[in-house]
Amino acid sequence: MAVNGELGVGVVGCGLIGKRRAREAAASAHSRLVAASDARPESASETVAEFGGRAVADWHDIVAAPDVDVVIVATPNGFLAEVALAALAAGKHVLLEKPMGRNVAEARAIADAAHAARRLVKVGFNHRYHPAIARAHERFALGEIGPLINLRVRYGHGGRPGYEKEWRGNFELAGGGELTDQGVHALDLVHWFAGLPTHLFAMTQTAVWPIAPLEDNGFALLRFDGARIASVHTTWTQWKNLFSLEIFGERGALIVEGLGGSYGVETLTVHERAMQGGAPRTHVEAFEGPDASWTLEWADFTAALLEGKPYHGGPRDGLAVMAMLRDLYASAQSLQAVQFNAGAGTLSLM
Ligand SMILES: NC(=O)c1ccc[n+]([C@@H]2O[C@H](COP(=O)([O-])OP(=O)(O)OC[C@H]3O[C@@H](n4cnc5c(N)ncnc54)[C@H](O)[C@@H]3O)[C@@H](O)[C@H]2O)c1
Repeated sequence: MAVNGELGVGVVGCGLIGKRRAREAAASAHSRLVAASDARPESASETVAEFGGRAVADWHDIVAAPDVDVVIVATPNGFLAEVALAALAAGKHVLLEKPMGRNVAEARAIADAAHAARRLVKVGFNHRYHPAIARAHERFALGEIGPLINLRVRYGHGGRPGYEKEWRGNFELAGGGELTDQGVHALDLVHWFAGLPTHLFAMTQTAVWPIAPLEDNGFALLRFDGARIASVHTTWTQWKNLFSLEIFGERGALIVEGLGGSYGVETLTVHERAMQGGAPRTHVEAFEGPDASWTLEWADFTAALLEGKPYHGGPRDGLAVMAMLRDLYASAQSLQAVQFNAGAGTLSLM
């Protein structure tokens, strides 16, 4: 258990995101990095050299280590479930990178294991902590734009030469293409603002990158109770990085653009509808500076672990997105709209 209120953290998978998570674990007053492991031993060594702890050759030793309270899993998607399940079986809490495994079956197994072990699982939906997105949700929940009409999410980048040879271009390692990769964030936000859909329709393309059966573009339409609608376009052929989340209500709109860095300055534009006609009243909030979402997400999870507070990205949230993805891929294959299938208890938990 946590020593002096400080959680011991082990990281499995020390690539781009694993290192980012290790930095947060080391910087927090509530945790310290105690061990890191990677299929490339030099990645684990670099991580502990920078953030502390010991490099471990075999990730099973992280899962078994008595000084590890929380395992962060940031491997390619194909290994997420295996590592998370082993960690839960050993009594550890888990921060699992998104998506929650490659499919509903893996997500379900993780959710069940967490429930049985009475341990917390959090899926890495860091976008909920981006300040403009969090602020938009706060304003939306306060009723500032009135009842929801529809949402539009666009998210994409342009890959890079040889993208097809990376793990994201491999069905076994990725589980899905761009609709899965950046799409899970878009779908999680849709779920956060609109709830679970009743009907879904999708089309996919494999237009540029030779990664079939994976897609480099995914288009989704989701319909909710009350005839509310969301559209999502995720793309690896967006040659200039783009993030855009637009929420339209009866009395106004909330528009988030950018995520910082190569996605541009993160801004929230609020439009208040002119009820008598004419231009809306508009104001823009800019959130400059480094991406704070990783720090805020880690603080959310440590507060859940140490103080029992509620947190974003629990098993229900992860499963909801995986169930949406499953139905969207089924729709894309059949070219038919499908009814959302929460499945035999897919989403029933706890
Ligand atoms: N939350 C986000 O916004 C976000 C962004 C990017 C990636 N991700 C997720 O994070 C995870 C990692 O993505 P990444 O971009 O860091 O990839 P990456 O390729 O940079 O890192 C993956 C690391 O895992 C290591 N690895 C591979 N197989 C392993 C195994 N069996 N055991 C231990 N280590 C292994 C690799 O050597 C590599 O260092 C993925 O699940 C991805 O979907 C999340």
